Amino acid sequence: MKVIVKKNYDEVSEIAAQEIVDLVKNKNNAVLGLPTGSTPVGMYKNVVKSYKNGEISFKNITTFNLDEYIGLNKDNDQSYYYFMNNNLFSHIDINRDNINIPNGMADDLENECKRYEEKLKAVGYMDIMYLGIGINGHIGFNEPAEYFEPFTHEVKLEESTIEANSRFFEKVEDVPTSALTMGIKTIFSAKKIILIATGENKADAIAKTVNGKIDPQVPASILQLHRDVTIIVDEAAGSRL
Ligand code: F6R
Repeated sequence: MKVIVKKNYDEVSEIAAQEIVDLVKNKNNAVLGLPTGSTPVGMYKNVVKSYKNGEISFKNITTFNLDEYIGLNKDNDQSYYYFMNNNLFSHIDINRDNINIPNGMADDLENECKRYEEKLKAVGYMDIMYLGIGINGHIGFNEPAEYFEPFTHEVKLEESTIEANSRFFEKVEDVPTSALTMGIKTIFSAKKIILIATGENKADAIAKTVNGKIDPQVPASILQLHRDVTIIVDEAAGSRL
């Protein structure tokens, strides 16, 4: 595991975006795994800037998002589909057919999870997977649990996650209580994983991820077993390392 500590959010966003820019420049048909949340917003802004400067094109790039709430349609401004469109896809030249996000409105959710895995396999899995981290150590929506779930699956969200995500909703009751998420093996199919975290409230989760024992109660700790992981944090999130 490689750990990079940057001064602040802006520096984390810049260096994380640079990795995407470099990959897309070198491999114009790369497959990217992408997160939502507050943390990657600055990173996406920098990626869009590089696209607008003419540095890169996403014409042949394929993306797979980590997760999606169950029960929110694409037009709902809290859906991850909406978030991705707003922060990245509507600003770049990506082919819409190459965008993949689990469909939390599917009639048969189990089948949707299988379809997602098959699609990933068909494109040869991800070149790079970006992750954020929850204050409870979750990655994607792989919440603390008794065991690691390998593949894309349905999850019930933890109270702490619902509480943390309620900042985006009018009231906490509006936050969906379940989601679809890539599993650990799905995430591990990426050749390279980059986890970004900023702020003091992530410091404990980061310390446990990097130096703790591998434990499904701290889902991100399993990243210690992947062969190419870089953790990029600001000084606050890295303060307990
Ligand atoms: C989002 C996701 C989540 C977030 C995590 C941190 O697609 O998979 O695991 O990365 O909840 O969220 P923020 O960045 O809002 O603190």
